[in-house]
This record gives sequence, structure tokens and C-alpha cells, in this order.
Amino acid sequence: MISLLWRTVAFAVILLQLHICIQVKSFPALLDRIALLPGQPPVVFQQYSGYVTVDDKRQKSLFYYFAEAEVDPASKPLVLWLNGGPGCSSLGVGAFSENGPFRPSGPFLVNNEYSWNREANMLYLETPIGVGFSYSTDSSSYDPVSDKITARDNLVFLENWFIKFPHYRNRSLFITGESYAGHYVPQLAELMLEFNMKEKLFNLKGIALGNPVLEFATDFNSRAEYFWSHGLISDTTYKIFTSACNYSRFVSEYYRGTVSPICSRVMSQVTKETSRFVDNYDVTLDVCISSVLSQSKVLAPQAIGETIDVCVEDETVNYLNRKDVQMALHARLVGGRRWAVCSNNSILDYKLLDVEIPTITIVGKLIKGGIPVLVYSGDQDSVIPLTGSRTLVDQLAKELGLKTIVPYRVWFAGQQVGGWTQVYGNILSFATIRGASHEAPFSQPERSLVLFKAFLGGQPLPETF
Ligand SMILES: *[C@@H]1O[C@H](CO)[C@@H](O)[C@H](O)[C@H]1NC(C)=O
Ligand SMILES: *[C@@H]1O[C@H](CO)[C@@H](O)[C@H](O)[C@H]1NC(C)=O
Ligand SMILES: *[C@@H]1O[C@H](CO)[C@@H](O)[C@H](O)[C@H]1NC(C)=O
Repeated sequence: MISLLWRTVAFAVILLQLHICIQVKSFPALLDRIALLPGQPPVVFQQYSGYVTVDDKRQKSLFYYFAEAEVDPASKPLVLWLNGGPGCSSLGVGAFSENGPFRPSGPFLVNNEYSWNREANMLYLETPIGVGFSYSTDSSSYDPVSDKITARDNLVFLENWFIKFPHYRNRSLFITGESYAGHYVPQLAELMLEFNMKEKLFNLKGIALGNPVLEFATDFNSRAEYFWSHGLISDTTYKIFTSACNYSRFVSEYYRGTVSPICSRVMSQVTKETSRFVDNYDVTLDVCISSVLSQSKVLAPQAIGETIDVCVEDETVNYLNRKDVQMALHARLVGGRRWAVCSNNSILDYKLLDVEIPTITIVGKLIKGGIPVLVYSGDQDSVIPLTGSRTLVDQLAKELGLKTIVPYRVWFAGQQVGGWTQVYGNILSFATIRGASHEAPFSQPERSLVLFKAFLGGQPLPETF
């Protein structure tokens, strides 16, 4: 009797294993499915996370988190989101602070009512290696990582991710991101178009760039006027910040390790007046919102003697460093590291001078290749101010001979002005998000979702309410 029972059990186990085996074979991502994140509220959508190898020889593995659309994922596009830095995490910043389904709160995760997975299947990638849970076990892979390497790895990531998720292969694909992703996104999109000439794999339908670095000098030098017009610096300081030494010159010198005495003097005057108690990423916010939002590094090299104000308590950092959370995410930290919002240069040695590569020219190529582009700006950001982005977009439209089809006007979210917008030739758009920081979906989630939805649908932003 007992032996019969055992045989039945054993048979059932074999059947179950066989069943899982067949399921995994037909749907490899099953192993990456997240049963439940610790502390999460019940949800109806599926979540996945895990690793995709991008280089066998150099043992490079990139970590992703994928939140399928809340309703009817099969009918919704696939959207890749990338944060900047370089070296900051799309999981910690993008998913858990900006536009993902949850935000950590103590030991719990709370729903984000304006999550972008209401409109799309959202894929968050920690890139390059050394960021968040992404790693290489070959230490030579880290020295130094450039835009070129990052773009290549991101491309291989998606190629291999499609092996795990074959039913997403032909899905409409959008790439979105902010800040230094003004480099990552166009560079990746360009590689996709090249790849598609051999094999049409990427069904790329558009890119959206938030407060992006597109042309270093224009972007960085618009900071002076932004500081001045918002009352952060005096008339006198504005004058020297636009003549004696401007910000692009300072950054260039800084990354070459040759800061001139004049730039050093100007920058110390500027930082003295702006004060380190104002958040450059949102000049109206109080400081120390969260260290998660300080995607500093390249975008804001610290002037000599200046210390960064970092919150002691950081919900996301605490949450992602929990062992049970890492288990649930199928994540591992190689080399006894802690998960950090932005990788420091003792782990990731990024080629910081790549910030000087203009990517607005790549944006021009993409438009010529028929890819719609949206550039949007949180209008309270002084790091990559709206004025620089607006100038670059306008110049590009002129160069490409694109006519304005929607003249500069307000757009609405609910009954309030969500920002301003202008559309060129039905393919290039600019929009501001009113009251938003560098991390627009963090500070203006509802307006950001309205913008995102219009972008995906190729629709103009709401003109009335
Ligand atoms: C993708 O679409 C192409 C043609 O549009 C088709 O040949 C191919 O089978 C599709 N692939 C998948 C995985 O659906
Ligand atoms: C910034 O400074 C550099 C170097 O002095 C100069 O070439 C450039 O024209 C300046 N740009 C602006 C906008 O002032
Ligand atoms: C850089 O990260 C490593 C590993 O997480 C850590 O041990 C080190 O203290 C960090 N260095 C700085 C300057 O923050």
C-alpha cells in the first residue's frame, strides 16, 4: 500500500517535472517569473526579472526587471526604459522611483497609480555592467566602459532577451530614458536600424528622451541662464559664468583633470550662491528627497570642496539590499557588493569624456530613418534645462527642413496645464512638463503618464480639457 502510494507520488513528481520542462522549453522566461515581491500589494499583471548574458567570453550579464501591462499585455507595445548617470540603475531610479508599478515604503511596496505599465509592457535594464545587479566576473571587462560598449551590450541584451520572450519579438518597440540616456537611447536605436538591414528583428516605433544630454555644450551652458533667471545666482556671477568660464569648459577641464584657476574661481562663486541646499535637479524642491534621484556623476561633477547631500535613509537602497528581495528578483551581487543607485568609479570605470559626443546628430539620422522622436523636459531641472533641449530640437527641425505642424502651445493633464509643446513634421516633438524635476515621472507622475500615452499613440498632446 505504502509502496503504491510512493510510486504514485514519484510518478506525479516526474509528470510535474516533465510538465515544467515542457513549459520552460516553450516559454524560457518562466524561470524568471517573479512569484511575489516581498511586501507587494496583490496585482493582476506578471513580473519577471533575471539575467541575460551579453558576452559569453567576458562573462557579462545584464539584469532586467519586466513588468507586463496591467491589462491585455498582448495588445500593448514593449517599452525599454534606461536611466542615465552614466552608471545609474533603471531598476532603482526608473522602476522604483519614477514610472514603475511600485514604490518602496518601509518594508512594503505601494502601488504607483500612474505606472507606465498601464499603457505598455515596461522593461527596465540595469546597464552597463557594474550597475545595480549587472556584472561581469571578468574584471578586465570593466576597464573602461564607453558609450560604444554600452550600446553594443544593450543591443545584444535585447537580441537575447527575445530568446527568453519570443512572443515579444515582433511587438511594437519604443525606447525611452532620461538624462545620460540621451546618449544610450539614440546610440542603441542607431545600432538597431543597422541590425535591421541584415535581419528585421527590432520593430522600433519611436524614442522618447527626458531631460537628455544631446549636445554637451548647448545643454550644459543653458544652466547659467537657468540659475540666473530663477534667482539662484546674481547678475555679476551670471556675467562671469557666461564669459570668464562657462559650464561646458569647466566640465571639460574637470574630466581631463586640468581645472584652470579661473574656472575654479567661477565655479566656487556659482556653488556658493546656488548653495548646496538647493536640489539642482529641481530648483523648487527641498533637498534630500532621496539619494535615488541624485544621478550625479557626469551630469554634475562636484566642485572642489563641495560635499554631496545624500539622504541617510533610502527606501529603495534598503529594499533592494534585502536578501529576501534579491531572492524574489533572482538577483545576485557578485563580489560581496551592496546594491547601489549609481555605481561608483571603483566598480565602473566609465569613459566620462564620452559626454562630449553629440547625439543630436544621431537623433537626426533616426528621424531620416522614419523613427518618431519626442524630447521632453521637466521644467524645474537646472541640470539639463528645458531651454537647451528646446534650442537643440528647434535647430534640428530647421536642419531637416521639418515644418511646425503644432505651433508652441500649452497641453493639458486633467484641467491643468501639463506643460508646453511643439511638433515638427509629425515626427519630431518637444514638450515640457510643468513643475517636473529632472526625474519627471517622479515629481509629476500624472502629467508624465499623459505625455507617455500620447507619445505611444502618436497623438498630439491634449489641447483642451
Ligand atoms: C515577425 O514578423 C515577420 C513578418 O512580419 C514574420 O515573418 C515572423 O514570423 C514574425 N515573427 C514572430 C516571432 O512572430
Ligand atoms: C564656452 O566656453 C568655450 C571655451 O572657452 C567657448 O568655446 C564656448 O564658445 C563657450 N560657450 C558659450 C555658450 O558661452
Ligand atoms: C564604491 O563602492 C564600493 C563597493 O560597493 C564601496 O566599498 C566603496 O566604499 C565605494 N566608494 C565610494 C567612494 O563611495
